[in-house]
Amino acid sequence: MCGIIGYVGARSAGEIIYRGLENLEYRGYDSAGVALVGEQLAIHKRAGEVADLTVPADETATCGIGHTRWSTHGPPTDINAHPHVDCAGEVAVVHNGIIENHEALRDALDGCEFVSETDTEVIPHLLEQEVHDGASLTDAVASVAQAIEGSYAFAVVHAGENAIVATREQSPLVLGRGEDGMFLASDIPAFLEHTREVAYLEDGQVATITADDIRLGGNASSTSPTYETVEWDADSAEKGGYEHYMRKEIHEQPQALRQTLSERIDLNRGTVAVDLDFPTGYLDSVEEVQFVAAGTSYYASRYGARLLEELADVRTSVTIASEYEFGGGRDPWRTLTVAVTQSGETTDTLEAINSAGQAGARTLAVTNVIGSSVTRSVDDTLFIKAGPEIGVAASKTFSSQVTTLGLLAVAIAHERDTLPRSQIRRLLGDLNGLPGAIQQVLDEEDAVRAVASEYLDMDAFFFIGRELGYPVALEGALKLKEIAYVHAEGFAAGELKHGPLALVTGRTPVIALLTNGAQPAATTHNVAEAQTRGAPAIGIVAEGRDVEHLDVEFTVPSSGLFEPLVGNVYLQLLAYHIANQLGRSIDKPRNLAKSVTVR
Ligand code: F6R
Repeated sequence: MCGIIGYVGARSAGEIIYRGLENLEYRGYDSAGVALVGEQLAIHKRAGEVADLTVPADETATCGIGHTRWSTHGPPTDINAHPHVDCAGEVAVVHNGIIENHEALRDALDGCEFVSETDTEVIPHLLEQEVHDGASLTDAVASVAQAIEGSYAFAVVHAGENAIVATREQSPLVLGRGEDGMFLASDIPAFLEHTREVAYLEDGQVATITADDIRLGGNASSTSPTYETVEWDADSAEKGGYEHYMRKEIHEQPQALRQTLSERIDLNRGTVAVDLDFPTGYLDSVEEVQFVAAGTSYYASRYGARLLEELADVRTSVTIASEYEFGGGRDPWRTLTVAVTQSGETTDTLEAINSAGQAGARTLAVTNVIGSSVTRSVDDTLFIKAGPEIGVAASKTFSSQVTTLGLLAVAIAHERDTLPRSQIRRLLGDLNGLPGAIQQVLDEEDAVRAVASEYLDMDAFFFIGRELGYPVALEGALKLKEIAYVHAEGFAAGELKHGPLALVTGRTPVIALLTNGAQPAATTHNVAEAQTRGAPAIGIVAEGRDVEHLDVEFTVPSSGLFEPLVGNVYLQLLAYHIANQLGRSIDKPRNLAKSVTVR
């Protein structure tokens, strides 16, 4: 979705902002633009890729803002691209989110000349009136924020002033303090190569950013932000020699999981620590754990929910976040509602968790992004610690989400005393072995690449699995459709014979999860049903398990209930190599965005 970058300091703002826009590309966008500050503003913007945008090399500005736009109001055209300016061209604005009352504001702004179809354009015109009436840029932004409704983040520059003023409401903005300048962005990777010292803007706060300082609040009572140092380094947000971020992130999974697990399990004592401040006795009394999530995070939640039921004997439910309002929140006061969202910014998920909290549920976020919106909305947060994920399609965050939910399930099982210590130790051993098990799968990449070329031109792919294999089948199918644009469906293996079998032919490979935790014996029958109808069969098979007549067999190292998760890495590699051989835009698939901040 849209991205914001801003810089003011001693260096060339044009260069830094252009680079920031490239770093924001992964969020998904269809137009880009910059505003550079001089005695007059220089605006460069256009529909299309950042690479299509030219910022003249002789630009001497040291202050400016930039934007990648993902169209909501008005198609992707040069005119609708941000920044947008006031009538005199002296105030420029970049904006993420939606101004819900923009039509009423537009009508009220009599006499202003609007040139675009965007909701954003009301902001520079409202600011122009405030500035005209003598307000400072900071006060003007604070006042305009009172007038607009919706979820938004916007940043503003004014001709002749080397400063950026920004504010937010339910849409992220991060501030950065560097050695030779200050930064502002919707996401840390935008400026990570310049500084790791960051501060998160809160809803309703106004930040005034100058070359050597950032102040929060109005001129009379301003404060300094509280900075923290992020652990991510610039390399982790770069491609590091890989052709695509996604392939790099698939290969980073052993390291990401070491991070997810670090300091959380004690194998000697057989304990797990997830650092949650639940009131004493809470986990014993909770009647239901309800998950709300979207897309890949929804499949991770289904995996986690099944682990909780199996290990901790807790009733669970998993609701697609955008469906939550239609009866998702029964008995909220007896429920722990868990929002699973790697970005922490998905509007559907934020709306669901907010309404659960308002109805009285205790709320927990499971997320990757420190300081993201979801962390402000909930009672507790559990970070998945996967490191930055730039590829639009989730890969390592899925593995880290499931692993984190596995840790949570074991912690709750321990608290509720539902498992013998020997079983807890075995589970912790399986969790601890995940980085090594996934590395073994990654070492098979050449074999997966070969299978990808063999089945490249098939009509469709069907993924089947039972129990913990079912959410992985759904995730495997999603990955293939979103990055390869190939028709793929995930089914509960037992459902194949209740309808989908009608689609099965010699040109529809069936990919089956045949590992522990996925009821392999029963699923093997479903594979045979498909093979009888001519379908090629690809098995993701537990080490040591003998399955006859498979056309392709990939072996999953022993990891107990986490074997379907390990097997999923084969599905990620398969989707990646099919997409790559079909020449798809893997890191930025068509029509998709990394952070989905619209309903
Ligand atoms: C698929 C994918 C999406 C996201 C979904 C939720 O690869 O990435 O399906 O999982 O948009 O996003 P988060 O987890 O940020 O809430």
